[in-house]
Amino acid sequence: MAVQAPKGTKDMLPQDSYMWQWIESEERKMAALAGFREVRTPVFEHTELFLRGVGDTTDIVQKEMYTFRDKGDRSITLKPEGTAGAVRALIENQLYADALPCKVYYVNNPVFRYEKPQNGRLREHHQFGMECFGAKEPTAEAELISLLMRLLTKLGLDSLCVHINSIGCPECRAKYHQALKDFLGDKISDMCETCRERFGRNPLRVLDCKVDTCKEIVKDAPSMIDYLCDDCRAHFEKLQQLLSARGIPFEVDSRIVRGLDYYTKTVFEIIMQSNGTGLALCGGGRYDGLVKELGGPETCAVGFGIGTERIIMELKNKGITGPAVTTTDVFVANLSEDMVQPAFTLTETLRDMGIKADMEHTGRKLKGQFKFADKTGARYVVIMGGEEYERGNIKLRDMQTKEEKEIPLTEAAEAIKALL
Ligand code: HAM
Repeated sequence: MAVQAPKGTKDMLPQDSYMWQWIESEERKMAALAGFREVRTPVFEHTELFLRGVGDTTDIVQKEMYTFRDKGDRSITLKPEGTAGAVRALIENQLYADALPCKVYYVNNPVFRYEKPQNGRLREHHQFGMECFGAKEPTAEAELISLLMRLLTKLGLDSLCVHINSIGCPECRAKYHQALKDFLGDKISDMCETCRERFGRNPLRVLDCKVDTCKEIVKDAPSMIDYLCDDCRAHFEKLQQLLSARGIPFEVDSRIVRGLDYYTKTVFEIIMQSNGTGLALCGGGRYDGLVKELGGPETCAVGFGIGTERIIMELKNKGITGPAVTTTDVFVANLSEDMVQPAFTLTETLRDMGIKADMEHTGRKLKGQFKFADKTGARYVVIMGGEEYERGNIKLRDMQTKEEKEIPLTEAAEAIKALL
């Protein structure tokens, strides 16, 4: 039997790689605009980091983590998200001791979740994320949302709307929990087993349940926004003013609670428009308690994560393929075996000059070499051999106009460079 990729994983194939590189380069440019610097953390961490960081009542921790014991009998987990690792790195390397805010980003960060694979939902996906540590003002959320919208617009995904909500601080959320418990009191027995289980420990989680009957029950549940304390309310209002002033389309959506436990105050998501599944293109929010929870000093924080596979899905659904790239500008063909060495030398000289050049490696006749050159999108083909070569020349064919001309071999590289 042929070996297959594990369920829920996807190869990034050569025909798509330029899209990944294009997206990554836009992400890097956008992060640099606002002083964010790259951080890379390990693909695996101690399991405890996620139990404490992500929260043990979340679906991610309860059902989706890839956890195993290593040969030293340590419990290890493949990253189910990027934030906890970034916070661990901040604490361990005392990045908080520098001037704050400390702004970091990660690109193409592999993330593993044992989910039921479907369109847009993978067991391994890749995230671009930005995290800003030490900024308590709502300008930090506004900055991230604005950068995110700038990135998506640059990629061609305009007309997107950010859904924002506030889930308050521990104090006002406790009051909301009580109101939610009062509301759900006589209804909880009709809810799914997971909701019944979570009801006591973290009632907010039931708002996130995907089961239809549970969704119907929580439809009329009280809204967190009505329970915000003065500080949380002022923070949320200020954020809305900042977004409005910048002309960013947003919607206050009290149903957004996010699937991770570390959030405080602001949470936000952008919902995918194209596939009607209601999947999020991006998600993020403020998490003022996490750095302390994981052993660092009290440090407020805000961030977001966006899945590259979902960006590509959205782009492809809109027919956006990104800037065209050629693999080869010049193909150096040979007419006979004795021309292989001069062809190799010319190919390498062209590459020395920064020109994308390729040559024949499979011993094909000229016709086959032309066919291959055409497939790679080469603009010019150099033909080495025959009478031209005896005269000290090469033949250069323009693959678009089909024109051919003879050029002295010694001047060929410079002449080709001038044409490109
Ligand atoms: P998240 O909403 O769980 O948040 O994931 C962020 C993004 O990753 C999603 O919006 C989606 O684009 C992508 N994603 C998530 N799960 C999958 C999947 N199974 N298959 C494909 N793509 C997926 C976080 O992970 C937080 N760490 C974000 C954050 C950063 N909050 C604060 N800072």
